[in-house]
Amino acid sequence: TEPLILLGLESSCDDTAAAVLRIDADGRPKILSSVVHGQTALHADFGGVVPEIAARAHAEKLDICVREALTAAHLTLRDVGAVAVTSGPGLIGGVIAGVMCAKGIAAGAGLPLIGVNHLAGHALTPRLTHDVAYPYLMLLVSGGHCQFLIVRGADDFTRLGGTIDDAPGEAFDKTARLLGLPQPGGPNVEREALKGDPTRFRFPRPLLDRPGCDMSFSGLKTALLRTRDEIVAQKFGLTRQDRADLCAGFQAAVRDVLAEKTRRALTAYLAEAPATPVIAVAGGVAANTAIRAGLETVAAEMGASFVAPPLALCTDNAAMIAYAGAELFALGHRDDMTLAARPRWPL
Ligand code: KG4
Ligand code: ZN
Repeated sequence: TEPLILLGLESSCDDTAAAVLRIDADGRPKILSSVVHGQTALHADFGGVVPEIAARAHAEKLDICVREALTAAHLTLRDVGAVAVTSGPGLIGGVIAGVMCAKGIAAGAGLPLIGVNHLAGHALTPRLTHDVAYPYLMLLVSGGHCQFLIVRGADDFTRLGGTIDDAPGEAFDKTARLLGLPQPGGPNVEREALKGDPTRFRFPRPLLDRPGCDMSFSGLKTALLRTRDEIVAQKFGLTRQDRADLCAGFQAAVRDVLAEKTRRALTAYLAEAPATPVIAVAGGVAANTAIRAGLETVAAEMGASFVAPPLALCTDNAAMIAYAGAELFALGHRDDMTLAARPRWPL
């Protein structure tokens, strides 16, 4: 087969992204460029992503991202063979902006269009960066998502379970807010936790008493709030050490829940006797060293290799969308101008 160059677009949350990816004749992917314009500063005053602000910023930035990605790859649209775009799930204004932009490019340049599920983009990333064969187990842990998937193919996923309320990244962000630490919470809570004693406060490990891979993280945040208020009531404030200990206790609880549920997901996956068992992670929370170590330990105990793509590809980006588009394209998937933007789209 001929090499194929894909343009990928992503705009489903608070990152506007475009990437150029080449699939070589031997099927190997190569990222030629990957541009991400984050919107953190735009939402900083609001304590979360504001959908209307996000959608406007995507609409303004998408074409700039596309131009930057093509320039960085030293290519023009004439070199591109297909356009892949996140068509859901996500904040609908942003998804619409991306889909409209991709339709315009595809129609104008006469290119095939492929709508990609954002979660599939994350779930296929290990194959973009590593030599990973189907089926593998995926733990997707980000600010918006938390689920275990058996990935059998680019359009073939089995969901084993996931959070029934908050995602862990969201819990990290809320914990940071409760303790007066800046956003995004994850890295700041992790930094504090390094200075803290994880055994001083014992936070709950929700749903560990229940079978299966479902998780819950919202109770943890409530427990943290209650403990914080007890300390404040006793001492009229939080010391630095209190704050570090709260962070350490919180992080240890998240780590334990994810590790134990990973053990169960691995058990279900290994029961299928995969030839080369692999557990892969994606999402911003996979950046957390303690959580990652917990997962690696479980994987090693159970005889599965652990694969973690580099952080820039674990968080939202368009290279993963281009790559998922390439796999779908090879399977014969094509969309046309009726491609819809979907706010909800379970795998
Ligand atoms: O994948 P991502 O960039 O965005 C989506 O949610 O789609 O993930 C961002 C989330 C945020 O909630 C952030 O606090 C969390 O990942 N995060 C972390 C760490 N770095 C980022 N959580 C825990 N520890 C970290 N080191
Ligand atoms: Zn994402």
